[in-house]
Amino acid sequence: MATEKPTEHNLDPVDWEAMRQLGHRMVDDMFEYLQTLAERPVWSPTPPAVKAALQMPLPTEPTSPEIIYERFRDWVLPYPKGNIHPRFFSWVQGNGTMLGMLADMLASGLNPNVSIGDHSAMYVDQQVISWCKELFGFPAGAGGMLVSGGTIANLVAMIVARNAYQDGVVKQQGLYAHDGQLVVYGSTETHNCLDKAVQTIGIGLDNYRKIPVGDDFRIQLPLLREQIRRDRAAGMQPFCIIGNCGTVNTGAIDPLDELLALARAENVWFHVDGAFGSLAKLVPAYAQQLHAIEAADSLAFDLHKWLYVNYEVGGVLIRREELQRQAFTQEASYLVQHERGLAAGPPALTNLGPELSRGFKALKVWMSFQEHGLEKYRQLIQQNIEQAFYLGDQIKRNPPLELLTPVTLNIVCYRYNPGGLSNEQLNTLNKELLMQLQEKGIAAPSYTVLEGQYAIRVNITNHRTRTADLDALVEGSLTLGKTIFPAGE
Ligand SMILES: Cc1ncc(COP(=O)(O)O)c(C=O)c1O
Repeated sequence: MATEKPTEHNLDPVDWEAMRQLGHRMVDDMFEYLQTLAERPVWSPTPPAVKAALQMPLPTEPTSPEIIYERFRDWVLPYPKGNIHPRFFSWVQGNGTMLGMLADMLASGLNPNVSIGDHSAMYVDQQVISWCKELFGFPAGAGGMLVSGGTIANLVAMIVARNAYQDGVVKQQGLYAHDGQLVVYGSTETHNCLDKAVQTIGIGLDNYRKIPVGDDFRIQLPLLREQIRRDRAAGMQPFCIIGNCGTVNTGAIDPLDELLALARAENVWFHVDGAFGSLAKLVPAYAQQLHAIEAADSLAFDLHKWLYVNYEVGGVLIRREELQRQAFTQEASYLVQHERGLAAGPPALTNLGPELSRGFKALKVWMSFQEHGLEKYRQLIQQNIEQAFYLGDQIKRNPPLELLTPVTLNIVCYRYNPGGLSNEQLNTLNKELLMQLQEKGIAAPSYTVLEGQYAIRVNITNHRTRTADLDALVEGSLTLGKTIFPAGE
């Protein structure tokens, strides 16, 4: 038996028993904290003293885990973003679950690098991706990859689309190797992560056509058709149409069937950004409208949004797996898979995306899907949609609150408008109203600007939200509105 030399070090606990007890305490504390969540304000600002404390010098000497944990309890735990809370409605963010939290602990304990090899995490990852294909109606042989979120999912899809162009000529020879400038199309409501993706793949923002939307915030098809015609006439190469399945501002769903048909007729790639909206496919009332997803060339989706899985986890599906593989496979002697041993196992995941090292994010998805089953998710997504419609109704019934867009999915945009104020004044005062809603810990909606109008924007991808939370938001908006807005004007 090998004896340890006193001069050799490692990072395991000096006192295993003390560390075990600390671990139990952490789990107990987190259970207590999350169980009593609704009793606390949704958000409170981080005090200056805590911000100052969080500017410690780089530690050179060790500190005991107990003291470090106390710092976490004092400085970190009391000032969360709030997206775990039932009254959090900002951006498009999910809540996570208790089992998801524990799964992250287990994943971190095993700490596998899920990129290559014959080990259990690779099979769990494979299982989760095949569930996702089934969920979205992609063929079993399609490609797919879990990534950190919608941004990277969209980027991966764009890289595959670009590298697939003209049988891979761009991958090998670069963007100048083919005739004509590649052009991408999407609506003006498309998420800005696709601007980043279009820049990153070297197409350039000037060649990303933002097609105007109609009153319903959906892409205007005649304008899209006309733009493609003009680009072709000018010698450009339309190569990808992006369809939105749930825009970030209003939850609008582009006419996906028509976009798919157009993409096929034009022989261009059809990508769907379904970061959150694609999950509405589970709800029967939306299934038909979202049917075209099943025929898309690629789909970006997030599990940390509307499947409420703990951060981070999103995914991308690519209809033709060979294109995904071609886009990312780079031969390297140190990554060749073997017939047996550790370097065997499922096809290496590094050949399906830009990353080599990957964490075990699949475990929390694998555990969550089993814990709840699809039917539960369907109910919760439907519940969130019904809550959004309820809130829209409440706003209509409670002037001077003003609904700014019809509710079509899970997003509600409104403002306080007592009349007699210019749009500029309304914008300034509604911004103030929003900040006070957050600062007073009443609720945490976010904001957007729709045709020049500042909107308080409520996104409901929250399994903890109850109708009473929406009532509190309406009441809070009315009460604060009265105090913020000049009376009688
Ligand atoms: C429609 C849409 N696409 C993409 C994204 C980016 O996703 P992520 O924040 O997971 O990177 C978002 C985020 O809200 C989104 O709403």
